[in-house]
Amino acid sequence: MTLAGKSVIITGAATGIGRGIAECVLKEGADVTVVGRREEPLRELAERFGDAVHVVAQDVAAPGAGTRIVAAATTRFGGIDAVVNNAGLARFGALDAADPALFDAMFAVNVRAPAELIRCALPHLRERRGSVVNISSVGGVLAMPGRAFYGATKAALNSLTRSLAVEFAPDVRVNAILPGPVLTPMWDGTGLDAAGAERLRAGLIASTPMGRFGEDREIGRWVCLLIDPEVSGWVTGALMPVDGGRTA
Ligand SMILES: NC(=O)c1ccc[n+]([C@@H]2O[C@H](COP(=O)([O-])OP(=O)(O)OC[C@H]3O[C@@H](n4cnc5c(N)ncnc54)[C@H](OP(=O)(O)O)[C@@H]3O)[C@@H](O)[C@H]2O)c1
Repeated sequence: MTLAGKSVIITGAATGIGRGIAECVLKEGADVTVVGRREEPLRELAERFGDAVHVVAQDVAAPGAGTRIVAAATTRFGGIDAVVNNAGLARFGALDAADPALFDAMFAVNVRAPAELIRCALPHLRERRGSVVNISSVGGVLAMPGRAFYGATKAALNSLTRSLAVEFAPDVRVNAILPGPVLTPMWDGTGLDAAGAERLRAGLIASTPMGRFGEDREIGRWVCLLIDPEVSGWVTGALMPVDGGRTA
């Protein structure tokens, strides 16, 4: 497998799963436009991988973000072969205690922004017969008590993935990876208190047959495989669990 010469956009590439994806895709030889709100952690990738990295400090949910990200990638790398929608917002808590403003914020980052970035990138993806990989979650297919709205946004992203796969075929493939629990900074900002977060972590390990959290590079390698047309040229509309058996 090689992604040499391919131009890939990765959102939320500064930390956690996105960083693991960016490292794997860069090691396979691609040029990568890395997107996130904070510039500094993205710059660290550019320092390590040099000219193959183009840093775009951008909130994916801001008006006009898709247009700006696509313009940045095409200006720097001449086109787009793949879009990886990884940036996500996770706020947990029981529904009756939830702030409804968070529903809109989660929907904006987890569903509307990926749809808008795909829409803006579509002519370029069609030109190169490229693909989209959406980073969803097992939360989009499992019952998620205490995390219902987050799960609902990921179920919406799964639906988007399948519908667009058919809408864009045979020109552009659209797939999703559904990670199980991976230890990332996301777990520090869910809105749960320390005891609640610890209970959740212990419960997740107990309900994951492989008995451990996943690692970001274990998601990153699957993203590379889904981008590579030599491996996955006949794979579209797939919701691929990479989850230590949690949905088995
Ligand atoms: N960790 C898990 O167990 C797990 C499991 C299943 C699915 N997922 C999914 O995996 C994806 C990555 O999550 P993670 O665990 O790696 O979390 P993370 O470490 O918090 O990473 C999220 C990244 O997205 C960026 N981001 C957040 N909001 C953004 C926005 N509005 N615009 C641009 N960038 C934004 C953040 O950078 P800035 O703050 O600089 O913007 C950050 O680098 C998410 O979609 C999440 O739902 C995670």
